[in-house]
Amino acid sequence: GRVAVFMGGDSAERDVSLKSGKAVLAALVSAGVDAFAMDVQGCLLKTVENPKFDRVFIALHGRGGEDGTLQAILSQAGIPYTGSEVLASALAMDKLRTKYVFAGCGLPTPKFRTMSAPNEAAQIVRELRPPLSVKPSREGSSIGIRKVNTATELAEAFEAAAALDNLVLVEEWIEGPEYTVSLLQDSALPAIGLSTDHVFYDYDAKYLADDTRYRIPCGLAPQDEVRLQNLALEAFRVLGCRTWGRVDIMQDKDGEFWLLEVNTVPGMTDHSLVPMSARAAGISFEELVVRILRDTLE
Ligand code: DAL
Ligand code: MG
Repeated sequence: GRVAVFMGGDSAERDVSLKSGKAVLAALVSAGVDAFAMDVQGCLLKTVENPKFDRVFIALHGRGGEDGTLQAILSQAGIPYTGSEVLASALAMDKLRTKYVFAGCGLPTPKFRTMSAPNEAAQIVRELRPPLSVKPSREGSSIGIRKVNTATELAEAFEAAAALDNLVLVEEWIEGPEYTVSLLQDSALPAIGLSTDHVFYDYDAKYLADDTRYRIPCGLAPQDEVRLQNLALEAFRVLGCRTWGRVDIMQDKDGEFWLLEVNTVPGMTDHSLVPMSARAAGISFEELVVRILRDTLE
């Protein structure tokens, strides 16, 4: 049947999604799949009433595409789609609720709390140990995230995060290194170690800078990489994710790993990490995309 590659969308990650979607479409077409691009903007209800496609490859990032709302519409219309279903998509989009699940399952995640007004800053820097990371809970690609050291900086960072999402998360900063583990059909691919001269692996370091360094093999001892991969698999499982995803993890100076979040529609651009991990496992971009699509038939 015909495959629609959903891309673009209305989220802050629209540009990233257009790149992911175009790469996915090209790979599907080159694999002989009858596929076409669909820039998904506004309401989808009309589109799924008389769909011109039989399956959907979701290459949308962020709210409206990665957060379960689209998945619910496709589920109800009986149209198979790639990746996680409604609940896992919604949970993983929300970094705060993701951490509630991790904490409830005894999985390591940096100490955190929510923030609902700038005047809570003084109290929060007493409760949590700075530096702190301030995040809009439901955003992607590090958009709106800041590192802060003082209550004054925290109050400012709160305003910036709250402009993007009324749910703001503050967590203790782990200096790193940062690792990411890509998951494909219930297995972990080789981990990637990330380094940047930016304060952290932010939007520019992700998509624009050419001095971001990706280590694969990641540089950990083999038994530590397995520990890292198992932690990522566990994070994926407790959220109930399906088929593929990418888990972001920090390591502290004592060697302990700390879960940050799970991405259920990770980037698929030419800078992106899942394709890089797949390549290291001998899986071409084309094969990766076909394997993700094939799972919709099960
Ligand atoms: N949110 C971006 C697309 C990622 O996780 O790769
Ligand atoms: Mg994310």
